[in-house]
Amino acid sequence: MKTTLSFAKLAEIATELLAVSAIDTQTEKGANAKAAPTLLTADPAIAAAVATVLASGEYKAGANETLLLHAPAGLTAKRLLIVGLGKQAKVTVHSVRNAAGTAVRFAKPRGIRELAFALPENDSIGALHAIARAAVEGAFVGDFDPDTYRSDRKDQSVQSFTLVAPEGAERVSVESSFAEGVAIGESQNFTRSLVNEPGNKLTPTIMGQRAAEMAKELGLACEVHSTEKLHELKMGAFWGVSQGSEEPPALIVLRYEPEGIVDGPILGLVGKGITFDTGGISIKPGDNMEKMKYDMAGGAAMLGAMRAIALLKPKVRVIAIVCASENMPDGKAYKPGDVLTAMSGKTIDIINTDAEGRLVLAEGLCYARKLGATHLIDAATLTGAIGVALGKINAGVFSNDDETFEKFKAALSISGEKFWRMPLGDEYADLIKSDIADIKNTGGRYGGASTAAEFLKVFAEDTPWIHLDIAGLAWIDESKPYVASGPSGIAVRSILEWVRSYQA
Ligand code: BES
Ligand code: MN
Ligand code: ZN
Repeated sequence: MKTTLSFAKLAEIATELLAVSAIDTQTEKGANAKAAPTLLTADPAIAAAVATVLASGEYKAGANETLLLHAPAGLTAKRLLIVGLGKQAKVTVHSVRNAAGTAVRFAKPRGIRELAFALPENDSIGALHAIARAAVEGAFVGDFDPDTYRSDRKDQSVQSFTLVAPEGAERVSVESSFAEGVAIGESQNFTRSLVNEPGNKLTPTIMGQRAAEMAKELGLACEVHSTEKLHELKMGAFWGVSQGSEEPPALIVLRYEPEGIVDGPILGLVGKGITFDTGGISIKPGDNMEKMKYDMAGGAAMLGAMRAIALLKPKVRVIAIVCASENMPDGKAYKPGDVLTAMSGKTIDIINTDAEGRLVLAEGLCYARKLGATHLIDAATLTGAIGVALGKINAGVFSNDDETFEKFKAALSISGEKFWRMPLGDEYADLIKSDIADIKNTGGRYGGASTAAEFLKVFAEDTPWIHLDIAGLAWIDESKPYVASGPSGIAVRSILEWVRSYQA
């Protein structure tokens, strides 16, 4: 998708489709009880073109509600689309992100390959540069469809997206935010395209190749190791998961080292990259097992975040580690009752081979520390329990350090992603004590997301650490007006923003 930023007059823009937004200003009672939606543009020609239809009361400007007019009078655009932002009191920058996605997804099935989206002119929503960035991100999110393997696929992706900022806008800040939005939107889609790949197409080795290609293109240092290195580093927990697969594991290490930055924090990003999770010997039931191709979404999020980091160049050092493996049942597979020794020397009593994510991450966290990470963040489709606790509304965030968590929370206000802090504590840690080893890999059905996080905490040791359990949100089951069903690319934007908050 080609993107352009324009400061032209809306009425004069030559486009297949011009999208403008409106808010619902109707109140329960009082003077505004029957108010028509308010159009968020000062352009009188647009106001005139939509006056009749808005006055009719048929269109309420609910969030992502659309209304299309062909050949709008007084405009150069062939079509005018109004996109609702919802109730005035609830409108935020994130409503605009979704509205831009809605406009793009409105265009796609109609064969409209080019459109312009007018930034809403309304100071109460937020700073114009923040809205500009969100709108571009939303446009990229909306443009993605996961149907790449259909042989009759018609590529309906939008070829050209123009963001139109008000004529009088402060250009420099809007231009730089617009460019950021492009880098971030593309990176989130890079993650989504990886997550979308089936297990037979994206093996650990291929995930390593995709990471290396991306790193080469963007100037990141990259090493992809396999079985031998796991043995050399004594990563017994990672190897335990991999040993039952014909496909060799991949230990992917990416480094971002900005010029001139020789001290300050080193951020360690660690991702779960299980390219297919059968459950191993504790095999999963067949229903929905096909979904387990997305068990590498945490690792893919780290690769997407690194891609955005390489483009946006924050002044802070970052290392990313993706632990990629299949989890398969086999004659050589690890078994319940086995004891594995992790790189840190800790021994792990295997209760369930389906709790494999924490095993590979334990090694990733330990290795990131060994490579010098001063702060850690991991992302993983770790537990079904997080979905039970939070639904498909919020993802889970855990941390051993309030200050580090606060920085992540601040990042969320920019990314617009929803994460809810979940508890850790000694009572949860007690549930993963083992009779024969240092720790066991499951803590029972109840509090499953917290006991999994406690397991990881053991390997983060005293390093400030954040754990993101994205199992409930990495895959969207039902499409929305602004996003297709399929891989969501969750966590890319929040991780990036958290990283940027450590800039020198
Ligand atoms: N990859 C799964 C978690 C998962 C579940 C991701 C649903 C996405 C959607 C993970 O490896 C797993 O199997 N977890 C087990 C842990 C249990 C054995 C303690 C689970 O959640 O059931
Ligand atoms: Mn599993
Ligand atoms: Zn898994």
